[in-house]
Amino acid sequence: MLPQNYTGKLAVFYQGQGTLLAFEQLAERLGVPLYSSLNADNQEDFFLSFSEGGLKLFDTVGTRRLSPGLGVEIEPRNGEQRSWPAPKDGALAQALGRKTRTVVDATTGWGQDSLHIFRMGYDLLCIERSPVMAELLTDGFFRLAQLDWMQRLNLDPPRLLQGNSIDLLAALATQPDCIYLDPMFPPKRKKSALPKKAMVVLRDLLGDDQDKEQLFEAAMQATGKRVVVKSPDYAEPLGGKPSQSFQGKLLRYDVYLKG
Ligand SMILES: C[S@@+](CC[C@H](N)C(=O)[O-])C[C@H]1O[C@@H](n2cnc3c(N)ncnc32)[C@H](O)[C@@H]1O
Repeated sequence: MLPQNYTGKLAVFYQGQGTLLAFEQLAERLGVPLYSSLNADNQEDFFLSFSEGGLKLFDTVGTRRLSPGLGVEIEPRNGEQRSWPAPKDGALAQALGRKTRTVVDATTGWGQDSLHIFRMGYDLLCIERSPVMAELLTDGFFRLAQLDWMQRLNLDPPRLLQGNSIDLLAALATQPDCIYLDPMFPPKRKKSALPKKAMVVLRDLLGDDQDKEQLFEAAMQATGKRVVVKSPDYAEPLGGKPSQSFQGKLLRYDVYLKG
């Protein structure tokens, strides 16, 4: 049954691949319709479907045609190491801090920063509030766990919690060394820090994160040692003057040490 507040933005799309039951369960969990064909009457902009071995998000924004699907990419991004644990170098590792062991990524999104942090060997907990993104991440982390090198090294994928980090951080049993935040900032110019299609789709689906100041306060309360905020280079620091700042390409990692 669809919830009363269903906005009509998303549906699950069964394309004839895989078992229908898995699609029915996915639609049920998300409280969205399930279609086995699409036509001009479909009001939704986003469709979740299993294709090519993974869960993907398709959209029709601006075109009314189904885009190529986007899933959680489990291969390293350009410039990231394949080995595990990869060397802790680069601006992100500097911002996380040399003595950091445990990290909570409180804004996991497509999991790209999380997977970078995971590959560098940190003990990582991921939190994501969007149920749609949490489904995509669950699928991505499942695929990660099947990879040869993960099995050879007997590694578990990162743990994932679905919910609002403002609440979940306050309920953590132990304080992590570092809480990592990468909330959605409004775009200021065409050449933004995250111009990738995946981030454009995320903004279309979820909108900007309006409660990032509250999230920052919750992170400062919950962390053992530091909070790292990734932000576009044009944005004001989220928590006022940071203790340290590390420059990436069109972005900054602002570090706030707990006093
Ligand atoms: C810019 S994206 C993060 C991208 C991510 N760093 C990556 O590498 O793919 C921001 C994500 O944080 C999530 N988010 C924002 N505020 C949150 C909160 N209070 N609790 C949990 N998730 C949150 C949003 O739903 C969105 O998926």
